[in-house]
Amino acid sequence: MGKRKQLRLGTIIHGVPGNMSAWRHPDAVADASVNIDFYKQQAWDAEAAKFDFVFIADGLYITEKSLPHFLNRFEPLTILSALGAVTSRIGFVGTVSTSYSEPFTVARQLLSLDHITRGRGGWNLVTSPLEGSARNFSKAQHPSHPERYKIAAEYLEVARGLWDSWEADAFVRDKESGVFFDPEKLHRLDHVGPAFSVQGPLNIGRSPQGQPVVFQAGSSEDGKNLAARSADAVFTHSDTLEQAQQFYTDVKDRAVAYGRSADEILILPGITVIVAETEEAAEAKYQEVASLVSIENALDYLGRFFEHHDFSQYPLDEPFPELGDFGSNSFRSGTDLIKRNAKEQGLTLRQVALQATTPRTAFLGTPEQVADRIQQWFEGGGADGFIIMPGTPAGLGDFTSLVVPILQARGLFRTEYESTTLRGNLGLPEPANRYTQAREAGNGAEPVNA
Ligand SMILES: Cc1cc2nc3c(=O)[nH]c(=O)nc-3n(C[C@H](O)[C@H](O)[C@H](O)COP(=O)(O)O)c2cc1C
Repeated sequence: MGKRKQLRLGTIIHGVPGNMSAWRHPDAVADASVNIDFYKQQAWDAEAAKFDFVFIADGLYITEKSLPHFLNRFEPLTILSALGAVTSRIGFVGTVSTSYSEPFTVARQLLSLDHITRGRGGWNLVTSPLEGSARNFSKAQHPSHPERYKIAAEYLEVARGLWDSWEADAFVRDKESGVFFDPEKLHRLDHVGPAFSVQGPLNIGRSPQGQPVVFQAGSSEDGKNLAARSADAVFTHSDTLEQAQQFYTDVKDRAVAYGRSADEILILPGITVIVAETEEAAEAKYQEVASLVSIENALDYLGRFFEHHDFSQYPLDEPFPELGDFGSNSFRSGTDLIKRNAKEQGLTLRQVALQATTPRTAFLGTPEQVADRIQQWFEGGGADGFIIMPGTPAGLGDFTSLVVPILQARGLFRTEYESTTLRGNLGLPEPANRYTQAREAGNGAEPVNA
């Protein structure tokens, strides 16, 4: 019998997991966001459970109303490099913005992570939703939503071009003859485009997994197109199986329309999980974290998605205010969904704020219930796997000890790593070096930097 299709699992290490007040929970490590021992333990726990990767989200602008975790946290590629050195199989995906960085620097950092981890590096490409980021990066203005995605597409093209600077066997290092590298296998990119001019080559060799794995997070039309055209995986969010199925089919269809195979792109919704031995115990865990949140906290949290809009000016128990286009230059896909749900379900501001802050996740329940739901989304065409976002401070341990064994017993999730690289474990193809490919095709032509 053929092996069952395998679930892919990652987890977000989010210093203080759960909502903005969860750091007050008795189980929370209050300084977790800058606590290397906490991060190491989470990575070890995820690796012991055979997770594909850990994932670090990020942002570039804070105010005093931001989540406690956002106020004081590690830079993603720095912490992932440290975690890479104390693990051997699990992959590492770090969020880096294409709107506020240079492709040469980031391509180099990601390839360094990939070498440090011997092929376990990944990039969550984001375009940065927060307008205030511009003020931290010497920019007069935050680029508009469509402009950000144009920049992102060119940026990714440049990064991938730079990652092909050196062919796999370029470094000969022959002490006898004195040949360190083969000049035929070193390539300059010479990219000149609307946003970037980058000559290359990059000053680090080819990745042990071909290229770092590229995730894309962004679910608007532009976001889906960028992902479908170029990403290896998509980090997304859906509230229901129907939404997940719609997104899944949409992005896979777009990928096929771009000439790719549907299997070349993984759709990985982030899901908040709250699990306990009984339904009552799971519900109690949810109530315990939810009850820590004040309505003022919830309004601040909601406001961040809408360019730090001050929601305290509206009556709490009247219909969610009419906001027009507000939010569409920020977290567009997220704010569109909040506005649509509020209208369709006739929600008040209080309900919207509390739902955004302490959502009743579809993945709350007993170990069997959560495993069933995961299987249903996975086999029902809603996901290729999941990014587990622990809903309580001890949530990762609950998931690995209670749910993972059930998924393994059902043959849905590995009991041992298949590969030493992130690409290998995710079952993603290794991209060929464009120059090696052109040489092997025998036409001797220099490839166009596509
Ligand atoms: C599931 C998900 C996760 C995201 N994670 C991040 C993140 O960690 N950091 C960030 O700056 N933006 C993040 N974004 C925001 C996107 O990069 C993007 O800027 C924003 O959502 C607007 O794009 P969209 O309308 O295409 O979704 C995330 C978006 C989604 C949907």
